Amino acid sequence: MCGIVGVAGGIGERLGSALKKCLERLEYRGYDSAGVAVTGAGGIIVRKGRGKIHEVEARFNFTALDGLSGIGHTRWATHGKPSDENAHPHVDCTGEVAVAHNGIIANYRELKEQLTARGHRFISDTDTEVIAHLFEDYVKAGLPALVALRETIRRLKGSYAIALLYSREPDRVFFARNVSPLVVGVGEGFNFLASDIPAFLGYTNRVITLHDGEYGYITPSSVYVEKNGEPVNVEGRVRVVNWSPEAASREGYPHFMLKEIHEQPKALRETWAGLDMGYVSKLSRIIAEARRVFITASGTSYHAGLVLDHLLAGLAGLDTHVFNSSEYRKYLRLVREGDLLVAVSQSGETIDTLMAARVFRERGARVLAVSNVVDSTIPRESDYQLYTSAGPEISVAATKTFTAQLMILTALAANAALYNGGIGKETYSLIMSELEQAPDLVNATMINVEARVRHIADKVKVKASAYYLSRGIGLPIAMEGALKMKEVAYVHAEAYPAGESKHGPIALVDQGFPVIFTVTDDDYLDPLEGNAMEMAARGAYTIGILPSKHYARLGKVFTEVIQTPDASPYLLTIIQSIPLQLLAYYTAVLRGYDPDKPRNLAKTVTVE
Ligand code: G6P
Repeated sequence: MCGIVGVAGGIGERLGSALKKCLERLEYRGYDSAGVAVTGAGGIIVRKGRGKIHEVEARFNFTALDGLSGIGHTRWATHGKPSDENAHPHVDCTGEVAVAHNGIIANYRELKEQLTARGHRFISDTDTEVIAHLFEDYVKAGLPALVALRETIRRLKGSYAIALLYSREPDRVFFARNVSPLVVGVGEGFNFLASDIPAFLGYTNRVITLHDGEYGYITPSSVYVEKNGEPVNVEGRVRVVNWSPEAASREGYPHFMLKEIHEQPKALRETWAGLDMGYVSKLSRIIAEARRVFITASGTSYHAGLVLDHLLAGLAGLDTHVFNSSEYRKYLRLVREGDLLVAVSQSGETIDTLMAARVFRERGARVLAVSNVVDSTIPRESDYQLYTSAGPEISVAATKTFTAQLMILTALAANAALYNGGIGKETYSLIMSELEQAPDLVNATMINVEARVRHIADKVKVKASAYYLSRGIGLPIAMEGALKMKEVAYVHAEAYPAGESKHGPIALVDQGFPVIFTVTDDDYLDPLEGNAMEMAARGAYTIGILPSKHYARLGKVFTEVIQTPDASPYLLTIIQSIPLQLLAYYTAVLRGYDPDKPRNLAKTVTVE
């Protein structure tokens, strides 16, 4: 939450304009306020305010600003409501220091009191402002800027990625990182800092990921990093990422969400191609031999984790425990050596998932991270890493990374089940060959269902609530469908095991109430048909998402049917996600909302 950016050097355009472009690519991290600061011969100039980046730009014309270096911020409020005063960057008493920050300074109250007692004047309600004043104190005491930064962060408790301008050293941007993500973009004659790689992809694809405890500065020609007062050599850490700049632009689509939904065939193809099957098989042995397998994640990744749980228990007969990562404390006494934690996180930065991974490792468990961002914090701190290759995902609502997660988790589970004899070679080959065909089948699904889904969205757009029901492995997919609907269309949507619908939810169902069924497992056809009939008998508007093999039997049971290609349940998870994503997208658009900027949400949640 919150995106920060910094740039030092000449990039062939005004700094204000480059900062705006970078911030727009981080807007998924928060968009309730924005601001930039630049520094040059005339000192620091700050332009900031409440609102989305383009609104703040319209008020303050910050793209006209230029200088030797600059910082920018797009905010998701934690401390202090969204307002002009609370927007970043924040300055010290002298106006010689400006700070953009992502994270939470846990001890800011105490620091603020101390600083106020020393005569500092605070303007905002934010935790961030203490950083500018602490730094001011240290440079006033005569410390060189880098030492002042080191002393400043020594006083901070909590999480932070910081970009800081100091007008007496106008050619550089100082930085520090603890927990919150921060990367350097290495250029020719310029260097960038950002919360995430897409911010500067239009300028460079050479990246250094900063680690916790590191701080330093970028100048137009150098990147200087220290930890605990000792220089850190980062030359060997420069990576070239193969994400194209177009990957971080909408390319003609009205929204990133729609673009990313449509990118799924490509994301799946590249994820499949990027899988090292030797490594997958090694990991699957580690899973099959673990004492117990814990699975953790948040949001959409949690639903992918539920599918893994279903497959590892159902196919491989393993002792699995799946939990929302924010609830990890429940397991503190339970975990021990021999256990394995699978931590699923698209961004690799979600704070709760990171915390869960850390405490599991501290207690002797091994951790396998599944992420879309190479070298992000969770994979870096884990024993094993598996990556999806879905390309950068900008839309707050995860879509292509979800199906890519399903693909690799299903491959992993199939390998584990083959290894421990849960399934034979034939079932294994069927699952693997289906996964290989996933890109084509997803493509076919997209072409076949989009118009129909749009028509259904036109009906759903006026509804206040919806249920998503399923049984078996289709349930996590129904849960993901309901989450998408809530996130972007603001329709109250709940998923239940269809069997549970009679234990409460059905009380709400009346004429026209939308109930969406995902039908994946053949074993559950009879009870699911019964549940659909029960809903229909109460006047519900039922929508069945079915593989075509069940059309003859169930086609007439639902008010609306969305037919998908035939496949086993292991692939239907991926295929049936497509209409559910499209339904949420079109419902949001038809209700007049911007699905790329769902209110109150951020793509990467870096505060507990
Ligand atoms: C936020 C995002 C979701 C995402 C979740 C977990 O809530 O809005 O789209 O699924 O975080 O993120 P992760 O990066 O850990 O998968």
